[in-house]
Amino acid sequence: MSKQWHPDGWQSMKAMQQPAYADQSMVKDAVQRLSALPPLVSSWEVEALRESLAEVGRGKAFLLQGGDCAESFDECNPETIAAKLKILLQMSLVLVHGTRKPVIRVGRIAGQYAKPRSSDEETIDGVTLPSYRGDLINGLSFTAEQREPDPMRMVQGYHYAALTLNFIRALADGGFGDLHHPENWQLEFVKQSNNAARFNQIVSSIRDSISFMKAVGGVSEEDLRRANFFTSHEALLLHYEAAQTRKVPRRVGWYNLSTHMPWIGMRTALGGGAHVEYCRGIANPVGVKVGPTADPKDVASIVRLLNPSNQEGKIVLIHRMGATLVGEKLRDVLSHIAEESLNVVWCCDPMHGNTETTDSGLKTRRFTNILSELEASFAIHKEVGTYLGGVHFELTGDDVTECVGGARKLTESDLRRAYESRVDPRLNCDQALEMALSIASILREPNG
Ligand code: PEP
Ligand code: CO
Repeated sequence: MSKQWHPDGWQSMKAMQQPAYADQSMVKDAVQRLSALPPLVSSWEVEALRESLAEVGRGKAFLLQGGDCAESFDECNPETIAAKLKILLQMSLVLVHGTRKPVIRVGRIAGQYAKPRSSDEETIDGVTLPSYRGDLINGLSFTAEQREPDPMRMVQGYHYAALTLNFIRALADGGFGDLHHPENWQLEFVKQSNNAARFNQIVSSIRDSISFMKAVGGVSEEDLRRANFFTSHEALLLHYEAAQTRKVPRRVGWYNLSTHMPWIGMRTALGGGAHVEYCRGIANPVGVKVGPTADPKDVASIVRLLNPSNQEGKIVLIHRMGATLVGEKLRDVLSHIAEESLNVVWCCDPMHGNTETTDSGLKTRRFTNILSELEASFAIHKEVGTYLGGVHFELTGDDVTECVGGARKLTESDLRRAYESRVDPRLNCDQALEMALSIASILREPNG
């Protein structure tokens, strides 16, 4: 890391996707308040995640990253948070069974409040207002007042993230994730689905293995009772990230203590901009989204810039090529990074390259396309000799109708029934569990 790096150094560069705040003194005030508040996560946890990711990089563990496209302040309620935790726990159990490896759970949660947008403005019926950029920046309602970026939302966002994380920690530490009692995390909606029988079979087979492991002393009660759970969000709004970037006693370097693993979005990763500049100075593991237009050499340069010491578990490359382009684009990126001997964790986000708009104007994703990108990705990694160590989903624990397909065969005409996403369409809990079951079967196939 270069000596001159400072959490605010990004300010001298062109930062994409930032709001145009009208009042800079309010920005300063919000940043000052944020800087004085206690951190949301600790450097020990960040280091623990990096070590776990190093295990993923070595092919010894698997990463499950998932949650909302955009969290909203209004949805900071116990039901929504618990449902999200439940579906991630269920999926991870299926993946433990399928991969025979520990699964590292990372939520898109407790800070996933800022969104990149393709346009700075939105026009409805001749009225043009700033685009909605996530609750951390402005409000969703199409009024001039709501759409005005408000710096104090950063302080509010910190508080909502703290409330969310507090509840997650209480649940995860308090026995909610207890492997003896997976019935605690059954979701009502999934109980009635075709996937329930397959899930229950896995649960009972895991119970048998637990009894066996206990009998031979290979697992402790404490391991079974607690569910490890980490947080992540897109490091998009740099004032928010920098204000929570701290030095901690007895450690070298700077930590972003707003989340365990920030990631750089596809739109802000390339071109060596302010987001890469900010992220190169933090000790956290950092995700980088890699889309179909990324040149493998540029991806390698970003990795080198973010991780000059080639530390294991530090960089997670999250490829999101889309089902139609993955065959053409993924191989070269994998080969180049492997040829350069760069240590990275590979993770597939099969959501963001598969977004389409229906005739009635709703954004959706097809279950079949999502699965097909995953299948192709596992196959291409195998061919190249790299390890696809993780998956990244936009999902919810609720019974929404945003993606089409899956066991309940949702069609475009079902979408309006419960379309709640503010930005991208998410898998509902049943589709998410089915996706985990499908990944487990890809991995258990002799050629998988
Ligand atoms: C996202 O993860 O919500 C997102 C916007 O992804 P990407 O940067 O890959 O488009
Ligand atoms: Co999204």
